[in-house]
Amino acid sequence: MSNTEKFISTLADGQVYKKDFIILGTGILDGESINGAQIKIPLKTLNRHGLIAGATGTGKTKTLQVIAEQLSLKGIPSVLMDLKGDLSGLAKPGTANDFIKKRSEVIGVDYDPMGLPVELMSISNEKGVKLKATVSEFGPVLISQILELNDTQRGVISLIFRYCDVNHLPLLDLKDMKRVLQFITNEGKEAIQKEFGQVSSASVNTIMRKIIELEQQGAEEFFGERSFDVEDFVRTENGKGVISVIRLTDIQNRPKLFSTFMLSLLSEIYETFPEQGDADQPKLCLFIDEAHLVFSNASNDLLEKIEAIVKLIRSKGVGVYFCTQTPTDVPENILGQLGLKVQHALRAFTAKDRKAISKTAENYPDSPFYKTSEVLTAMGIGEALVTALNEKGIPTPLAHTLVRAPITRMDILENSEILDLVSNSKLVNKYNQDIDRESAFEMLEKKMIQVEEEQQKATLPKPSLPRSKAKEEESLIEELSKNTMVRQLGRTIFRELTRGILGSFSRKR
Ligand SMILES: Nc1ncnc2c1ncn2[C@@H]1O[C@H](COP(=O)(O)OP(=O)(O)OP(=O)(O)O)[C@@H](O)[C@H]1O
Ligand SMILES: [Mg+2]
Repeated sequence: MSNTEKFISTLADGQVYKKDFIILGTGILDGESINGAQIKIPLKTLNRHGLIAGATGTGKTKTLQVIAEQLSLKGIPSVLMDLKGDLSGLAKPGTANDFIKKRSEVIGVDYDPMGLPVELMSISNEKGVKLKATVSEFGPVLISQILELNDTQRGVISLIFRYCDVNHLPLLDLKDMKRVLQFITNEGKEAIQKEFGQVSSASVNTIMRKIIELEQQGAEEFFGERSFDVEDFVRTENGKGVISVIRLTDIQNRPKLFSTFMLSLLSEIYETFPEQGDADQPKLCLFIDEAHLVFSNASNDLLEKIEAIVKLIRSKGVGVYFCTQTPTDVPENILGQLGLKVQHALRAFTAKDRKAISKTAENYPDSPFYKTSEVLTAMGIGEALVTALNEKGIPTPLAHTLVRAPITRMDILENSEILDLVSNSKLVNKYNQDIDRESAFEMLEKKMIQVEEEQQKATLPKPSLPRSKAKEEESLIEELSKNTMVRQLGRTIFRELTRGILGSFSRKR
């Protein structure tokens, strides 16, 4: 048996495919692309997460594009964090040329250029569906984590949520939050003290300062209504999975906002999606390009939370893929959970680089066909060392892979194409109507004045939740469900009640 035949049969034995899969490319041996050595990734293990790593310009983002395309063709939707703005091209067909045709031929796939269903989204002022979340949906635990509070300050946050919960004060945006903070140290001070004891004004001041810091990173755009329903990520159009491209180009130098957003998105998905156990294919795949930005500035607490959610979200049928320059950008605990590894070339300029390369090589399965550390530096653009999990959950043999070319446009969309895409989006209509946020704030103000008056009228210390209040609450909810604008508010209140004081994530765990 020749070495090539041995290579092909080793791959086939290790890959074992009874169910559906996507084709990523073909194996390369001794510098030759081998026809008949396709590298396949089973849909079944796509919820086991992955890493796409490599030096700049080696093809990470294109690999991400290829995987998202192939998933879409299988009817699997995905969410792409587009930090460099180079993924919008997924909406338009690519262009065939001789180079691409030859590449597809040796890989053994048709090159069939097409545009795929793309939804552009943003958490700031970029064009597309506005992704938002309310403060109360965030819950006290996440808010405290994002603001990096100590235990005493966390206590104050819990108190605020509890107080607002009992008194049905919807916390929608940071403005609401700041108003309540003001209230508990000013007009509401006595009432709060009676019910919860002394609140340290130093703690309140710190929280206030941290909220303002968060606002300075643009967070007020993100908090508020209408909050995004993560089920809207899970859509198909004509049988193809919708690719939600979240445009985050303006977030590069606002890392706190980015990790806030990532954590909220992951925990919202975790809470909303039902358990799906071991299914034949994932429900949704999430790709985070330039993933070091999520981790580099996050506190240990935040990291722990992200690690925990990444681990748990698997059983909801969600795969998370990190795309970054070196694997060390991703925390150990997350690295250890990743099933698919696509390692593009690394460059050895310094002694430190060479150390990183031998460390990276150690993290890959041994191969009789390659010296991993040598291949790592010798690979060309659009080539990568790949190992996936086969259907039995066993790592597939390491393969130097020629990655197929994207069937969608490798370049970005023109401005007019973006406008066109956004104006034809149904979701944009649903989410981008301006909800009168003033009214939420007014309601809060009104309610506070009312509470204050009640406090003044009462001659005796109040029991913690007077029974007579129940009726009043009921009619408030009734009132809330009257029109669509405030139905969102109702949802927020309902969510807050179901989440409870600790935040539902920690509860469910
Ligand atoms: N699978 C592929 N098929 C065809 N061309 C590719 C492929 N992968 C990469 N290329 C070529 O290499 C270029 C760089 O790829 P890409 O943008 O994916 O690199 P990257 O690793 O994401 O770089 P950066 O770290 O700068 O973001 C692409 O513009 C494209 O021309
Ligand atoms: Mg890139």
